[in-house]
Amino acid sequence: MTIIASKCPDYKVTVVDISEERINAWNSDELPIFEPGLLERVLKARGKNLFFSTEIDRCIDEADIIFVSVNTPTKMFGEGAGKAVDLQFIEQTARRIKENAKSNKIVVEKSTIPVRAAETLAKILHSGNNSVQFEILSNPEFMAEGTGVRDMEAPDRILIGSMDTPSGLAARNILMDVYLHWVPKERLITTNLWSSELSKLVSNAFLAQRISSINTIASICEVTGADVTEVSRAVGMDSRIGAKFLNAGPGFGGSCFRKDILNLVYLCEYYQLNEIAAFWEQVVSLNDYQMERFVKRILQAMFNTLVGKKLAVFGFAFKPDTGDTRDAPAIYICKRLLEEKAFLNITDPHALNNARKDLQDIEEGVDFIEDPYQAVEGAHGIALITEWDSYKKLDYQKIFDKMEKPAFIFDGRNHLDHKALYEIGFNVYPIGKPALKHL
Ligand code: UGA
Repeated sequence: MTIIASKCPDYKVTVVDISEERINAWNSDELPIFEPGLLERVLKARGKNLFFSTEIDRCIDEADIIFVSVNTPTKMFGEGAGKAVDLQFIEQTARRIKENAKSNKIVVEKSTIPVRAAETLAKILHSGNNSVQFEILSNPEFMAEGTGVRDMEAPDRILIGSMDTPSGLAARNILMDVYLHWVPKERLITTNLWSSELSKLVSNAFLAQRISSINTIASICEVTGADVTEVSRAVGMDSRIGAKFLNAGPGFGGSCFRKDILNLVYLCEYYQLNEIAAFWEQVVSLNDYQMERFVKRILQAMFNTLVGKKLAVFGFAFKPDTGDTRDAPAIYICKRLLEEKAFLNITDPHALNNARKDLQDIEEGVDFIEDPYQAVEGAHGIALITEWDSYKKLDYQKIFDKMEKPAFIFDGRNHLDHKALYEIGFNVYPIGKPALKHL
């Protein structure tokens, strides 16, 4: 919404939320999320044509276009528990829009939702005796965290799904006008509602599938002496395959991939497409396997016991340039290392507050330390889980000197200079490459 406001000075954009605390933060200089480039843009537009408010009912009534951007987590109870999407917030929002709208509205699905959710939205909005007309559009969001501003300012594509009716097409054109303020026309794609809803799930499923695929190859590389970085480069240079999303790692995280694939799996099961459900579910199972494999590699390398050993964990966010830790592989990995009775010093430039919350049930064995040099004091090993750029610039000789010997480093992202680390004296365990060991 910040980018829409900054690119469309002729539109008034108001962001509403039931959380007063969050809205207050959006109205301050300490935004509730860390996203490079966002604060500058908020400061430029806020108070001019960008507003943050808790007056939901009034703002519903005043708006011509309403973007529904509420949480759609995986349902953890009852029918479909663990896979289906919990639609309660979507439904509550639809009811609230219906109660407060006194003029016709375009309601845009921005949240990621199951296919045919627009039908449910339309039924709720058009129920009862409200004479207001609602037109539902699907406009899924493809931006990624950490690069959100860039992705939004220069998107690969903007997708708008609508009903193929005169009013549906008219609403679609109104939304297209918003994006045409800065997005070239050829990057705007229009489809029917269901294709648009499904494309969002499929995009995330394909991206996650590439990561699981390359992670399976990493395992093969480790036992055969091949190098996963070389393999992914060779494979990715085929223009039909492409180079992106072929970096092996400790597993994908974030609030979307697991949730969206499980949503797709649930959809397949609902339509009794069981083989197809199993295919996609395997992407998630392999991700779980990859996180566990990272833990096992640490355990095996460190003489099959971590009891009483100190490990410095470099990075807790699910990816760099964000403080977000939702579904971060670090959560699973740290819990497993603690189960093995290791002591953890966790460090991260932006995610320590969230890390503390994620591990709040753990009573002992874990410290959260801002300074990486302090985190490695007396450590037996380092586990790098998030590829923050700053980790490349550290003085690893100084780090080596502070650590117990033999010193281990497990580079879960193939982010560091392994040869240089080995020469300093580290035993280096990359992902998908043979280890460089002095032992
Ligand atoms: C993802 C999609 O990339 C966005 O297009 C989509 O809009 C978004 O979900 C969403 O549905 O909201 P995001 O989760 O922010 O974006 O981050 P990604 O860059 O996709 O990374 C996800 C995870 O995959 C991270 O844990 C990252 O470390 C991991 N990853 C990514 C790899 O392990 N290897 C890779 O080559 C790329």
